[in-house]
Amino acid sequence: MKGHKPLFDTLPNALKQFVLQGKTALVTGSYRGLGFVMAKALAEVGARVVVNGRNSEGVNRAVEALLKDGFDAHGVPFDVTVEEEVERGIAKIEERIGRIDILVNNAGIQRRVPLIETPMGTWEEVLRTNLTGPFLTTKIVGKRMIERKNGKIVHVCSLASFVGRKGIGPYTVAKGGLKLLTQAMCAEWAEHNIQVNGIAPGFFLTDLTRPLREDPEFNAYVEHRTPSRRWGNPSELTGVLLLLVSSAGDFINGQVIVVDGGILAVM
Ligand SMILES: NC(=O)c1ccc[n+]([C@@H]2O[C@H](COP(=O)([O-])OP(=O)(O)OC[C@H]3O[C@@H](n4cnc5c(N)ncnc54)[C@H](O)[C@@H]3O)[C@@H](O)[C@H]2O)c1
Repeated sequence: MKGHKPLFDTLPNALKQFVLQGKTALVTGSYRGLGFVMAKALAEVGARVVVNGRNSEGVNRAVEALLKDGFDAHGVPFDVTVEEEVERGIAKIEERIGRIDILVNNAGIQRRVPLIETPMGTWEEVLRTNLTGPFLTTKIVGKRMIERKNGKIVHVCSLASFVGRKGIGPYTVAKGGLKLLTQAMCAEWAEHNIQVNGIAPGFFLTDLTRPLREDPEFNAYVEHRTPSRRWGNPSELTGVLLLLVSSAGDFINGQVIVVDGGILAVM
């Protein structure tokens, strides 16, 4: 929507509420995968976006790609599991780029190992990244949002937030916790005009799921188990995201919305 004010004026009110002009959005772990697609979608509807990840090279590349397309994009690398880094990163964004109106906790990792063989280090790494990271980041951003009485938070959950699956125990526990963190934050922050929701993607094609896609047996399982009979395309998450981070979603709170082609709805 950058530079398209006349176009904005012609939009019906039902669509105007999705426009994010004047808003700043931080998407963690967004230099590739679902995070990048979500950051780009936010930029497309007018938000200033902050790309994040641990790897500054990757962050810079993603920012360059967004700038080349004419979007208002910035990069602030930090590790969501390290409190001092998160503190510094958030302060930098708020002081130099803009106050964070929208936070998307997308950074996540997967370690596929049966529970019985899971080393403590793996357990802790997965919980730190997928659950403690979103808690830390949201706590630090949320403090500022509470002062301003305004904010939108989206946690990227998973089908594993609802059901178990063999071989991904630590991930399941972390994503299950993230669903309840969404509800706990809603309970404490809704009265401050902060909406905290989650998106639970089914199987989407990204680097994280490449090993699954490349395993013919698992690929066949996904295509058979998904009523839509296919993997999700990352852009298919952006509609729900825009609903949850725009004024269209001002009365939606504490929900985790599943986008999975129907998997969870059927036996
Ligand atoms: N792809 C899917 O089908 C799928 C399904 C359900 C949920 N998810 C969730 O969606 C999110 C994105 O997944 P993806 O498939 O795009 O994976 P991905 O591996 O492509 O992206 C994950 C991103 O998180 C970043 N990251 C990891 N640890 C970090 C840390 N400590 N600090 C900062 N950044 C960190 C990575 O660098 C990467 O950019 C994850 O939370 C994942 O669990 C994905």
